[in-house]
Amino acid sequence: MTQHQRLLIIDFGSQVTQLIARRLRELNIYCEIHPYQKVTDAFLAEFAPRAIIFSGGPDSVTREGSPRPPASAFTIGVPILGICYGQQVMMQELGGLVVSGEGTAEFGRARVSPTSPLPLLDGWFEDGPEQVWMSHGDHVSRLAPGFEVYGTSPGAPFAITADLSRDFYAVQFHPEVHHTPRGAKLYENFVRLAGFTGDWTMAAFKDEAIERIRAQVGDRKVICGLSGGVDSSVAAVLIHEAIGDQLTCVFVDHGLLRLNEAEQVVTMFRDHYNIPLLHADEAELFLGELEGVSDPETKRKTIGRLFIDVFQKYAGQIAGAEFLAQGTLYPDVIESVSFSGGPSVTIKSHHNVGGLPEKMGLKLVEPLRELFKDEVRALGRELGLPEPFIGRHPFPGPGLAIRCPGEITREKLDILRKADAVYIDQIRRHGLYDEIWQAFAAILPVRTVGVMGDGRTYDYALALRAVTSVDGMTADYYPFSHDFLGETATRIINEVRGINRVFYDCTSKPPGTIELE
Ligand code: XMP
Repeated sequence: MTQHQRLLIIDFGSQVTQLIARRLRELNIYCEIHPYQKVTDAFLAEFAPRAIIFSGGPDSVTREGSPRPPASAFTIGVPILGICYGQQVMMQELGGLVVSGEGTAEFGRARVSPTSPLPLLDGWFEDGPEQVWMSHGDHVSRLAPGFEVYGTSPGAPFAITADLSRDFYAVQFHPEVHHTPRGAKLYENFVRLAGFTGDWTMAAFKDEAIERIRAQVGDRKVICGLSGGVDSSVAAVLIHEAIGDQLTCVFVDHGLLRLNEAEQVVTMFRDHYNIPLLHADEAELFLGELEGVSDPETKRKTIGRLFIDVFQKYAGQIAGAEFLAQGTLYPDVIESVSFSGGPSVTIKSHHNVGGLPEKMGLKLVEPLRELFKDEVRALGRELGLPEPFIGRHPFPGPGLAIRCPGEITREKLDILRKADAVYIDQIRRHGLYDEIWQAFAAILPVRTVGVMGDGRTYDYALALRAVTSVDGMTADYYPFSHDFLGETATRIINEVRGINRVFYDCTSKPPGTIELE
């Protein structure tokens, strides 16, 4: 069990509960999210939190049988912050009244006006009303005894309330989301008031993760599928630091990687880190099976199936491996199963190699399960991975296959690799790489007519994509200048044979997805 000061988030099923954890991590606070069903009085006594946060949730406290915290949450003498449903459940349990019905709902941006000073709001609301994000069906109509109002909005007369004698705070809005631009301040103040010192750092995480891996694996062997992406690389280097040569990595090269990518990965792992690595060069197999396939789902399924076959084949060469390491991240976990079996609704199943561990009889080692992407990057730095590698944009498992709509041919892949490299080089030269969450080129299944020199050309059209995003779930297209786009199109057409026209994709997600397929 961790030695750090601990904060407990009781999850009532909000889709954004993980963002509360993220805001706290940014403050170097160790926190865990647990679903309300699991948080009993006994659990609470053992967990011994220094403070508790009640998350939002989709239910109505007015409904019989709706989620509740354990009674002892209110009596163990620690500060509590209730968010949205968390606020309502707090009021209901402590003697206030929550109503449901006409006029109680409020969705979207709202402006909250402070009514009197409150230490929880230090540094916020200093110049009057501030924007917050509301998303509630019910609202509190009578405060519980001991509570006072500190802020109101047109739809929520009790937008900010507190009982200072008990250090209980309750807000109707969601301070953890981006649409509450200064909401992080509220968490900062809450943990300060609760006496947290910010003792949870990446260095501490690394040491603890290494201990955990050693305890789990003992003297047995681990294999790790390496994609060349940040997550699996950080997981591999961390595990290698924990157990050394008991780890072997398998790098499946499906022939759908970017320019020079395979060489870079192999060099880094073999030469720089001295990590045992099997390089499965299976481009022929993958490209052969993908011949004539143009349906996006068939492409993905074909690649997924071959990946498992190839991985199994190479893993079979490592005698006695009992564990499979994966770079699964916290958002992967929360999207697919809802963390710790909590009540939030499944959004989509994630893209890791599902079914493989069961099929191979392997146990999983997933040291990044509790981290967000930016934390994985911080851990990578802590482990000494080269900066350009850590900062790389995400790259999908199916690789260039889903950036080549329609039929995949070697010719198209070659053109795409070169064009993508020029595009990324342009982005780097203009100092934009780190501002963009993900950028890539896609070769379109259409040829168009052009004129170069005195001749007519009939070549492929290329789409450029660049998005900003926090987690890939939603994204905005990146607003390049026209100068940049013009210069990039010119460079690509001049430097890459086979492209004579360049488009820029201005679709956000939703309604688009980031990848074209
Ligand atoms: P979409 O296209 O769904 O992509 O908006 C969201 C993010 O996920 C990446 N992506 C994948 N990553 N295997 C992966 O490892 C996949 O099958 C896959 N499909 C999409 C995509 O690059 C973007 O970052």
